[in-house]
Amino acid sequence: MDVYYKDLDSAKENAAKEALKYINDAEIIGVGTGSTVEKFIDLLSRVYNDYRDRYFTASSIDTMLKLRKIGFKVLHQSIVDHMDVYIDGADEVDGELNMVKGGGAALTLEKILAYYSRKRVFIVDYTKIVKYLGEKHPIPLEVIPQALAMVYKILKDKGYNPTIRYPVKGKYGPVIADTGGVIIDIRPGRIDPLKLEMELKTIPGIVETGLFINFADIVIVGYKDKVDVRSRARSFYEK
Ligand code: A5P
Repeated sequence: MDVYYKDLDSAKENAAKEALKYINDAEIIGVGTGSTVEKFIDLLSRVYNDYRDRYFTASSIDTMLKLRKIGFKVLHQSIVDHMDVYIDGADEVDGELNMVKGGGAALTLEKILAYYSRKRVFIVDYTKIVKYLGEKHPIPLEVIPQALAMVYKILKDKGYNPTIRYPVKGKYGPVIADTGGVIIDIRPGRIDPLKLEMELKTIPGIVETGLFINFADIVIVGYKDKVDVRSRARSFYEK
């Protein structure tokens, strides 16, 4: 078991190390949330002088605090109109580089930051590669608190097996995202990601979904002793 976790640690670190290559020329850098991103931030702290003049923004308070602690210039998201590059992790990645995200409840800001970034780079360890989205990880949704029971019921009626996410410790009651919503995780079984995304986005009360379709430019998959860099060309219709 210990060996497995050590391997995973190196896999995350290798992916994070490779991601450093993508921020060289960036003036404004968006940073996501999670344990793989933590590795990235840790590596950044070791090359602080190279990036001290850049601007950072982040998909969570947690990441903002971590970047500030190192001394980086961190901008609140509300005053950033684009990023040159966005670096984040993911919970699942399929063969077309579509992803499930939001295991850390930061999905709404993650999708916003990724969308408004000129380049989007995702760093994952090899366990995140799946045959289809939702295979291993539930699909998180951020929901307006006042709509919780109504959204929960409709998801249940549709057979999507919703559960309201609760923290492991440190708080009573549901997980509240930095953006104010509660998180409902759904397990819809094998899905057509785009169809499900479009359906979920029409349900009032759902702020955002953890389905990231056509969002990745680069996915860096880390292994114990190597990385596999996968890329996806944006279609004409994408931003
Ligand atoms: C945060 O809300 C998520 O989208 C993370 O990016 C995702 O959960 C990956 O996290 P780890 O790097 O900790 O696996």
